[in-house]
Amino acid sequence: MAQRTVFFNGRFVTEAEARVSIFDSALMYGDMAFEMTRTYRREPFKLRDHLNRLYASLKLLEIDCGLSPAEMERITLETLKRNLPTEAADMDWQIMHDVSRGPLDLYRRAFAEPLRPTISINCWPLITHMGRFAATYENGVHLVIPAQQALPATLVDPKAKTRSRLHYQMANLQARRMGEGRWPVLLDPDGFLAEGPGWNVFLVKDDVLLTPEPRNILLGVSRATTIELARQLGLATRETNLGRYEMLQAEEIFCTATTFALVHATTFEGQTVADGRPGPVFRKLMDAWKNLAGIDFVAQAHAYAATLEEWERRQPED
Ligand SMILES: Cc1ncc(COP(=O)(O)O)c(C=O)c1O
Repeated sequence: MAQRTVFFNGRFVTEAEARVSIFDSALMYGDMAFEMTRTYRREPFKLRDHLNRLYASLKLLEIDCGLSPAEMERITLETLKRNLPTEAADMDWQIMHDVSRGPLDLYRRAFAEPLRPTISINCWPLITHMGRFAATYENGVHLVIPAQQALPATLVDPKAKTRSRLHYQMANLQARRMGEGRWPVLLDPDGFLAEGPGWNVFLVKDDVLLTPEPRNILLGVSRATTIELARQLGLATRETNLGRYEMLQAEEIFCTATTFALVHATTFEGQTVADGRPGPVFRKLMDAWKNLAGIDFVAQAHAYAATLEEWERRQPED
């Protein structure tokens, strides 16, 4: 049994004990806000930004979780602290927040206690995510446009980070059918570039860094970090409407997300992006990112890849 600790509905329990009811609104409707934060050198990176987004998502879903942002931050740090000793000092962590309104009132007779929101904070060692991802930093990703469209803000606002994610899963399945290792980049119903199922997208054209304007996308913390770093580096940056045409003309394309920070696209719709290698703007931003994180997270991912099998063998069984 894993030794990791989860904050679950007011108590610290083991992962096995943290169980969501079959009557939970999260299961019934995908009615749950969530966040994914990572650590660099075991310190949460931009936790406040992630918690601000969590509370913004909760507001949209009309869920009062009963904890203030300050309490949520304190409990998050406590959860991480309890988990750090279960891994070596070079391990970084994913911190996951999940909050739903709890079991549906219709089923209240199934519970001894009054119904309340479901709140879970768990920590997971990043070796599994980043060990598997490591080679992608060199190989880049192959972007394709799936049939599945992004949800426009007029239907369900994608600025809220929720577990209502079937459209992302459909996009993943469609991309996988187009070939191994394809990543779907979704267009919105107007044909404008939106985002991937777990990342934002950037292009470079004529020395200008371009990214979809903040309408039908999740406002990624890594997206904001990338824009901030670009400005510090003196790179011209523009948030604007972009489409398939602009993607095809781009000199560089890359994706940003919390786990991997940034990764370049080698191809888009089967066509090589420039010479298929990371471009100069990407390389500058990657250096700035590593500097900000205080760690060469690409080298770290490779170190995880080298030890992942052994780590998995060491995991205790039930
Ligand atoms: C749909 C979507 N877009 C973008 C992102 C990137 O956001 P962040 O940089 O905050 O991880 C995510 C992250 O999970 C996502 O789910």
